[in-house]
Amino acid sequence: MSGVTQVNDRGSGAPPTAAVLDRERLRELFDLRSSYNARSGGDYEDDPNPVWRELRERGPVHEGIVHELTGYDRPAMFQGLPYPDRPHFSVFSFDVCDQVFRDNETFASSPQAVDPTGGQIGASSSMLSMGGAQHRRYRALVQPSFVPARGPWWITNWIEETVHALIDRFAGDGAAELNVDFCAAIPVLTITSSFGVAVEEALHIREVLNDPPEVIRMLAPIVAARREAPQDDLISVLVQAEITDEEGVRHQLSDHEIYTFAILLLLAGSGTTWKQMGITLTALLRRPEVLEAVRADRSLLRPAVEESVRWSPTDPMFARFATRDVELGGLRIPRGSVVHLCLGAANRDPARWDRPDEFDIHRPMKRSLGFGSGAHVCLGMHVARAEITVGIGALLDRLPNLRLDPAAEPPRLIGMYERGATEIPVLFDR
Ligand code: HEM
Repeated sequence: MSGVTQVNDRGSGAPPTAAVLDRERLRELFDLRSSYNARSGGDYEDDPNPVWRELRERGPVHEGIVHELTGYDRPAMFQGLPYPDRPHFSVFSFDVCDQVFRDNETFASSPQAVDPTGGQIGASSSMLSMGGAQHRRYRALVQPSFVPARGPWWITNWIEETVHALIDRFAGDGAAELNVDFCAAIPVLTITSSFGVAVEEALHIREVLNDPPEVIRMLAPIVAARREAPQDDLISVLVQAEITDEEGVRHQLSDHEIYTFAILLLLAGSGTTWKQMGITLTALLRRPEVLEAVRADRSLLRPAVEESVRWSPTDPMFARFATRDVELGGLRIPRGSVVHLCLGAANRDPARWDRPDEFDIHRPMKRSLGFGSGAHVCLGMHVARAEITVGIGALLDRLPNLRLDPAAEPPRLIGMYERGATEIPVLFDR
C-alpha cells in the first residue's frame, strides 16, 4: 500500500478499473465468517425466521436483545449494543417497529447529544446518531445527491463501468464465484470512486474503516484538492455545501464534518449493498423459474430487489433509545432503555403480508422496513437499488444460461446482525 493516497482526478465519466482489485484481499474482507465480520454474529448459520415468528406470535415486544432471544449465545455487536447497564427490549411486529422509527422524539438514535464539529470521528458523531432539527440540517446537505433523479449520475459515472469491468474478469471462464468477486466489489468501488479515491486504494479504505485517523489520512489530499478545484463528485458536493447553524449563521462544512460524512457513507453503503445483492442473487438462482422470468422481462428486476429487501434484509436489526418512560406493545419501557427493532421479523409480519415467508416477486408492492422508516430512512436506498439492478441485469445480459454450479455447495444465507450469502458459485455458457 502506498503511503500517499492516489487521488482519482479522472472526474465524472472516467470509471475505475476493477482489474487491479486483489481477489484474495477481497475474500478476506468480504467473507461473513471472517474475523472482520465476526463481531456482528457472522458465525450464526441458522435461519432465525422460525424463532422470530414464534416471538412475534407471543407478542410484538419482548424484554431482551434480539440475538439472545434468537438463541445466539456468543457476544454480538451492532447499533444499540452492548450498553450492559441499560434495560433492553426488542420489537418484532411491523406496526410497532414502524411506530418507533417514526417517533424520534420518544425514540432517539443515540443515547446522548451529538457534536459533529469536534471529538471522535465515526458513525456515532454522524447524522445517523442525530435527531430533530440537527439531523434535518445535516441530511439536507447530502439528500440532493441521493434522490431518484440522481440515479443516472451514479449509474453512468461509477456503477455501470465498475460492473462491466468486474464481469470482464470472469466472462471468458464459464464459471465464477459471484458473492465476493462481484457483489462485494461493486458498492465499495462505487462509493470510493464517487469520493475520488483511486481504485488501488479502495480496498485499503474499506479495511481501515474502523480506524478513522487512517481513513482521514487517505481522504485529506482529496478534500484539499476538491477545495481548490471542485469536480463532479461527492467530496466536491460536501466541500461546497453550506450549513446553517443553530444561530442561523451559514458556514461551509469543516474538514472534520466532511470526514464524518464520508465515513458514514462508507460504513453504511458498502457492506449493506454487497450483502443485499448476494441475497437477491441467491434467491433468484435458487429459483430457476423466477430467474427465467426476470431474464425474460427485466422490469421484474426492480420488484425482485424490493422483495429481497423485505424477505431477508441484510441488516435485520437497528436500535433506538427511549427518551422518556413509555408504553410500547403492552410493555412499560423505562426512560434510557435500548429498543431493538427487528426489521427482519417485522418484514415477515402476516398482519401486513400474505405468505410472508415466500420469496414472491409478483406480490403487490408495499413498503417494507428493510431500508428503515421515518426521518432516518436509508439515504442511499436509490443508489443501492441502482447498484443491484444494474449489477444483476448486466450478469443476465452478458452470461448466457447463468445458473448455480450443480457440483458446488449451493449458497445459504448466514449471519446474525449482518446477513448475507455464503459463496455463490455459478456456471454460464462462454
Ligand atoms: C441494500 C442496501 C442497504 C440497506 C439494506 C440499507 C439499510 C439502511 C437502514 C435500515 C437505515 C436506517 C438506520 C436507522 O434508522 O438507524 C439506513 C440508513 C442509512 N443508509 Fe442505508 N442501506 C443500504 C445501502 C446504503 C447505501 C448504498 C448508502 C450510501 C451510499 C447508504 C447510506 C445510508 C445513510 C447515510 C443512512 C443514515 C441516514 C440518516 O441517518 O438519516 N445506505 N440504511
